This record gives sequence, C-alpha cells and structure tokens, in this order.
Amino acid sequence: MRHLRSLILLFSIFLSPLFGLSQICESGLEYCESESDLASKILIKGGTVVNADRQEIADVYVEDGVIVAVRPNIKVGDGVRIVDATGKFVMPGGIDPHTHLAMEFMGTETIDNFFTGQAAALAGGTTMHIDFVIPVNGSLLKGYEAYVEKANLSCMDYGFHMAITKWDDDVPKEMEIMVKEKGINSFKFFMAYKGSLMISDELLLEGLKMCKSLGALAMVHAENGDAVFEGQKRMIQLGITGPEGHALSRPPVLEGEATSRAIRLAAFVNAPLYVVHVMSTDAMEEIARAQKSGQRVIGEPVVSGLILDDSVLWDPDFITAAKFVMSPPIRAVGHGKTLQAALSTGILKLVGTDHCTFNSTQKSFGIDDFRKIPNGVNGLEERMHLVWDAMVESGQMSATDYVRVTSTECAKLFNIYPRKGAILAGSDADIIIFNPNSTFHISAQSHHSRSDTNVYEGRSGKGKVEVTIAGGRIVWENEELKVVSGSGKYITMPPFNYLYHGIDKADAKYLASLKTPVNRIRPSI
Ligand code: URP
Ligand code: ZN
Ligand code: ZN
Repeated sequence: MRHLRSLILLFSIFLSPLFGLSQICESGLEYCESESDLASKILIKGGTVVNADRQEIADVYVEDGVIVAVRPNIKVGDGVRIVDATGKFVMPGGIDPHTHLAMEFMGTETIDNFFTGQAAALAGGTTMHIDFVIPVNGSLLKGYEAYVEKANLSCMDYGFHMAITKWDDDVPKEMEIMVKEKGINSFKFFMAYKGSLMISDELLLEGLKMCKSLGALAMVHAENGDAVFEGQKRMIQLGITGPEGHALSRPPVLEGEATSRAIRLAAFVNAPLYVVHVMSTDAMEEIARAQKSGQRVIGEPVVSGLILDDSVLWDPDFITAAKFVMSPPIRAVGHGKTLQAALSTGILKLVGTDHCTFNSTQKSFGIDDFRKIPNGVNGLEERMHLVWDAMVESGQMSATDYVRVTSTECAKLFNIYPRKGAILAGSDADIIIFNPNSTFHISAQSHHSRSDTNVYEGRSGKGKVEVTIAGGRIVWENEELKVVSGSGKYITMPPFNYLYHGIDKADAKYLASLKTPVNRIRPSI
C-alpha cells in the first residue's frame, strides 16, 4: 500500500501536468484537489444529530461553510449535494486541544506538519486542533510569527496555545499582545524538560498571575523535572539505557507531585488551571481532590494514556518500544482504566492526543540512550475512533457525552462555542457522519500521517467516521481525502472563558476574609 501510494505520488508529481490531473499541494501528497471541486451546498438527510446536550433525528443543511438549518424534512432546490445519513450519527467534528505539528523538539522536528497532520486528522473526523507555539529564544512574538508561517499549509481550522519558557520584562507584555491582538487565550508551562523548556515555581507563579489578569487559561505539563533528571541519572548508572528506562525514570509519583504543586500554586493565586496529558491515577486523584474543594481545575487525558499500557516499552525490538516513548510516560496496566472511569464521571473533561510524531529514524537517535529518543506519539487520526470504542462501545459513555469530550468541551473552554463544537444553525459546518455499525482498522500502511509507525498498529473496533465535512466542504468520503493546502482558517480565541465566571467574587470574598487592616494599639514607649 505504501509503495502504491509512493507510485501514485511520483506519477502525480511528474506526469500530472501532462494528463491534466488535480493540482499537487506543497507537501506533495496525492490527495490534493482544487477547492472548487468541493460541494458548498450540502443536505445531510435523516441522521441522528448528536450535540453534547441532546440527540434527535433531523436533517442538516449547510451553505457556504455554515450550518443554516437543523430540523426534520428540510426541502432544497437544485445544486445541493444530498448525503443520506439514515441509521448514522451526525456529530460536530472533533476538536483536538493538544497537538504539536512541525514542532522543533529534542534536536529534530515532528514528522507531521500542518498539512499532513491535519489531513490525517480529517480522515479521522477531527476538524480543528489547537497547537502549541514554542517561543523562539523566549520571544513569544517570534514564536508566533514562526507558527503563522508553518500553518500556511493548513487544510483545516486551527488555533494556538503559547508556551512560556522564560520570564523577563518582555514576556508579560508579549502575553498581553498574544491575548489582545493575536487571538491566543492559553499559555502552557512545562514543569519538566530540565535544561530546555522547564520553568521554575517562581516563573509558574508569575505566569499564573499574568494569565489571571488577562483572562487566559494557564496549562501545565506536570512532572517534577528535577526529580526526572535524577531518575534518568539513576537509570543510566544502573545500565538501563533502553526505552523502558524512560518509564522507570519518571514514575507516577513525580506526575502526582507536580500536579499537586501546580494545583496548589493556582489555588494560592485563585487562577483556573488546565492540566494537560493526565497520564496517571496519581495525577487524576489530585485533580479530583481539588475539584471537590471547589477549585477550577481541568484535566485532559490523552488517547495514549486512556488506551495503552507500558508493557510495550519492554519490547525487545528497539523501534517497537521507542515509538511509545512520550512524556509523561504511558503507565502500567490499571492507570488507563482509572482515567477512563474519571472521564466517564466528569473528573476529566476532554480528550486530546498530544500528537507529536517522529518516525523510526528519528526515534533511533536514542538507540544507546533513552534520554535521546524524541518524546511523542501519534493520535490525531485515531482519537475519534478509539474514544468511541473505549468509552461508548464499552458502555461507559453516551453518544452525547462522546460529543462533549471530543468536541464541545474544548470549544467551550477555549471560548469558541457555539461557533465550534455544535450542530446548530449558525455554527461552522464542521461535521462528521459516523456509522456505529461499521468497523475501523488502524495501520501505518493505511494511515495518513507521514510517520512510518503507529502506536495503535493492528487495532480495530466498532464505529467509523464515513464522511468528514470541514468548513462546509466534504473532505473525507469513501475512504478518500480531498483536501487543499492553505484552505484552513486560523481561529482566534477570546479570553475569559466560563472558568472565569464569578472568580472576581471569590477574590472579593478572600479579601474580606483577611479582616485587615487591623487597627493596632501602638505601644507607648
Ligand atoms: O512526549 C510528549 N508529550 N511530547 C510533546 C511535548 C509535550 O510534553 O507535550
Ligand atoms: Zn507536555
Ligand atoms: Zn504536548
């Protein structure tokens, strides 16, 4: 299959001008078409429309990229593409809150860029993602500009989070520019990756305060980076250099500790907090405890943490094991099931992927030392199928909850609901048609990522995204992608999401509780 694809690709590049074939996009993938080929008036008939709060049998009419009507028996004239969805679910396209496309990391760059990663996403029913901008030498503006350039390849809608990797007088000013002028409403702080992205508690506190004043959401990668560094040294001293050393050097206790620390620092300044890639029971329990006490803390599990276990890291084949290296690590059997339970009960709120792919050659950089294996796994194309299979097919979650955790909650948290995350008149026409009776199969031979491996290799299950509509265009149908590089839109995201509602009252209550100033009687000396 891979060879066939390569042949088609070569044929397209060198011979398409002679045969008048559809244009080839910048990245050279064979499934590029011109935008005018894609229907702009679509009627989806007879499906079960699922939103996060209800489901009903209805038609959905789309025109010029927007959902115009959602009701039974919509009548249309000529020139409208009719898609029969009888017996199928019509749901909002997935929104992935956590991706790294074209990210320079650990001496290399992720293999999926804004075109190939997004093409893969669309084939799997995800129609928007939020990617992490990494500052250039600490400069947010330079980082933003670099990512604007990278994202020119986009074929679906996307937004940005911004990482904060150092603190000086410019950073808070640039944070303000990001929020007020560039449409970024979230900032990520890495408590791990000592020597590169890691920040101190002092910086985290500054960042939390600044986020709060801007109405932005502070996000943390919660692992104790100093202790991880120590754990890595210990593994090397023990002669453990393979991928299993990655998991052994950064156990759940270090994720639990950092999660607790971040939560307590956020409580100290009364700022909302979003914990990315919650991988362990330890971290989840810290989040649950904080939520019980009324703190505004969001936990994001990722597909790998929900589905996989760490036994794969002991595989005797280096590449097979190394492809699973990510941080925090994939945990021992048992953590995934507790994370699934926490997702079904609402402790964990939305599912991301942390899609950050490296191919076998890149993973081989760490053949003699696990510390050099680029951290990251795939998931953008697989998330919608695997979450359905693990959560809905298993009976842990309803279809409406599935929509909530794969799309709506993300739209609400990043303040773009109901434009995104809903099948409602006026919403963007980002829609999937999902057949619960069909079957999905995952393989690197047939996936759309540029990676030569897939951490979900060989998995199959019930439920399949049969059609993806992005921005009002059918981009995935009959197992074929029709995507156009450059057609994706940047979605600006305003500050002050729902987590900020009433936070001023909590601050006022806190100030009142201080019972100050105290009118003291001065000693007469
Ligand atoms: O291993 C991972 N997670 N790679 C991506 C960077 C991050 O920490 O999110
Ligand atoms: Zn991270
Ligand atoms: Zn990440």
